[in-house]
Amino acid sequence: MAESFAGQASIEVQGVRKVYRGGTVALDGVDLEIGTGLFGLLGPNGAGKSTLMRIICTLLAPSSGVVKVCGANVMLERRRVREKIGYLPQEFGAWRLHRVEEVLDTLGIIAGLGNKVERRRRVLEVLDSVGLKDVAGRKVKKLSGGMLRRLGVAQALFHEPEVLVVDEPTVGLDPEERLRFRQLVARLGQERVILLSTHIVGDLGPGCRDLALLDKGKVVFRGSPAELMRHASGKVFEALIPTGQESGFLRPGVEEVSRRPEGNSLRVRAVVADGKAPEGAQPVAEATLEEAYLSFMASRGRVEAALAEAES
Ligand SMILES: Nc1ncnc2c1ncn2[C@@H]1O[C@H](COP(=O)(O)OP(=O)(O)OP(=O)(O)O)[C@@H](O)[C@H]1O
Ligand SMILES: [Mg+2]
Repeated sequence: MAESFAGQASIEVQGVRKVYRGGTVALDGVDLEIGTGLFGLLGPNGAGKSTLMRIICTLLAPSSGVVKVCGANVMLERRRVREKIGYLPQEFGAWRLHRVEEVLDTLGIIAGLGNKVERRRRVLEVLDSVGLKDVAGRKVKKLSGGMLRRLGVAQALFHEPEVLVVDEPTVGLDPEERLRFRQLVARLGQERVILLSTHIVGDLGPGCRDLALLDKGKVVFRGSPAELMRHASGKVFEALIPTGQESGFLRPGVEEVSRRPEGNSLRVRAVVADGKAPEGAQPVAEATLEEAYLSFMASRGRVEAALAEAES
């Protein structure tokens, strides 16, 4: 119900710190403003992505700082925020023995939709919007990983929130499901705010115009994917290496990003922290977003964290 907020729906995060019991500083002074569209939250394991999302969704109190969702303060107006926000947690599980439509029907009852016909209409509408209408009668335990994530999005969308928060939704999906999910998120982002965290940088897709990179509880980059890619300029190289000889190319400071066979050789792409071309390598004309992320982290001496993330 986007029209209920005068002006632009948005998330405002001001000076947020979160120190967990035991002393872990998960967020260390985060400032962010997020407008309509798909906003990507990137960062290695433990960066604080889930912590920030849980604070935005009113599930966790910040130690200090202010967060507003469509103008409503997450601490003082929890109920208003919850009406405006839909959340797909990192660990999403639905009742496995229920049918897909029953899961949403129950949500409808909890949301106060007493009219059975109206509820049924809404359940099918939401299932249709995430491409699950055909499996409305299927038991949750028989859904594929991608379908289960889309059911997660359906439950988050049920009350027509202006803001959708999805935490690492593509983990464990196969490439086809991943593509489908990317398309779904790009479509949903046309009319609402979507905050999406991921460690698979490419999963942000072309729908993402704005992103933040979080590292050790701090925003270390904020801008468009194109701006992040500019950081990689001159740092990504490609070489054709006879199979078995790639160890010479991959000296310390050269981080391999991808390799594919080409005849008896390997085409290897790598990020080079100091920008010095490895022997026989050429700079690439266009870096991918993933390479840009790695090269940014490499320039901060944090490539190990970024690589561990990419492999997990
Ligand atoms: N309930 C908790 N109690 C104590 N420390 C926590 C708790 N939850 C998270 N942390 C710590 O806070 C830091 C940030 O964790 P968070 O889960 O927000 O990171 P993340 O960016 O979502 O990581 P991942 O990519 O692994 O999901 C980590 O050091 C983590 O160990
Ligand atoms: Mg997380």
